[in-house]
Amino acid sequence: MLPSCNMLLFFLLWITAYGNTLTIRSTVNSTDLDSEIFTEKISNDTCTNSNECGGKLLCEDGVCQCPIDLFWNGSKCIFKHFDGHSCSSSIECAENLECRESRCQCLESQYWENSKCSPKKDEHALCNSSLECKATLQCKTNHCVCCEQDFWNGQFCEKSKNHSRYH
Ligand SMILES: *[C@@H]1O[C@H](CO)[C@@H](O)[C@H](O)[C@H]1NC(C)=O
Ligand SMILES: *[C@@H]1O[C@H](CO)[C@@H](O)[C@H](O)[C@H]1NC(C)=O
Ligand SMILES: *[C@@H]1O[C@H](CO)[C@@H](O)[C@H](O)[C@H]1NC(C)=O
Ligand SMILES: *[C@@H]1O[C@H](CO)[C@@H](O)[C@H](O)[C@H]1NC(C)=O
Ligand SMILES: *[C@@H]1O[C@H](CO)[C@@H](O)[C@H](O)[C@H]1NC(C)=O
Repeated sequence: MLPSCNMLLFFLLWITAYGNTLTIRSTVNSTDLDSEIFTEKISNDTCTNSNECGGKLLCEDGVCQCPIDLFWNGSKCIFKHFDGHSCSSSIECAENLECRESRCQCLESQYWENSKCSPKKDEHALCNSSLECKATLQCKTNHCVCCEQDFWNGQFCEKSKNHSRYH
């Protein structure tokens, strides 16, 4: 153990492909050299090179950031979540998914199939589940259809006029 007021300077020498650049990595006060030699930068810390950023973080636009398919959970970059996983923000959800009702989900106009979001289907389209059909349509005998007596107006199932109470 070293006295706590010892001031230690650490330099890191980067030999780049194009020339020699000296970078001051960090200055640390340390009582425990093993755990404090590297004060790696965390998410949003300013940087000039990815080597300065800890873990999987990369230096982009001057700050340490997780790679595209990962997000910063407060302590490290972890993989973004797919459909159905709990979430508190859309940045935690994989591409094309959003955090709705605390779950990563496709947009409301889409459904999750084969690990991706696809547009929901119109009337008459083949289906295996009502989740695949546009709102108000149901999957019956493998086709997206309106309930009996309703008709598809191009956007949603509407009550037939001749069945309305005004008839
Ligand atoms: C190192 O410790 C001294 C005394 O505790 C303090 O004054 C100084 O600001 C510290 N330096 C750094 C870089 O933390
Ligand atoms: C990074 O900074 C931006 C803008 O200041 C902020 O919106 C975002 O929440 C920060 N991200 C993290 C992981 O701290
Ligand atoms: C971040 O993820 C790691 C690894 O899954 C986990 O150990 C840690 O507790 C998480 N941190 C937060 C703040 O959720
Ligand atoms: C319905 O499920 C079957 C069996 O998994 C599959 O072969 C078929 O392509 C699916 N149909 C649609 C419209 O997704
Ligand atoms: C409602 O009226 C339309 C047009 O008058 C007709 O084509 C349709 O069959 C009727 N629907 C029902 C359920 O009777």
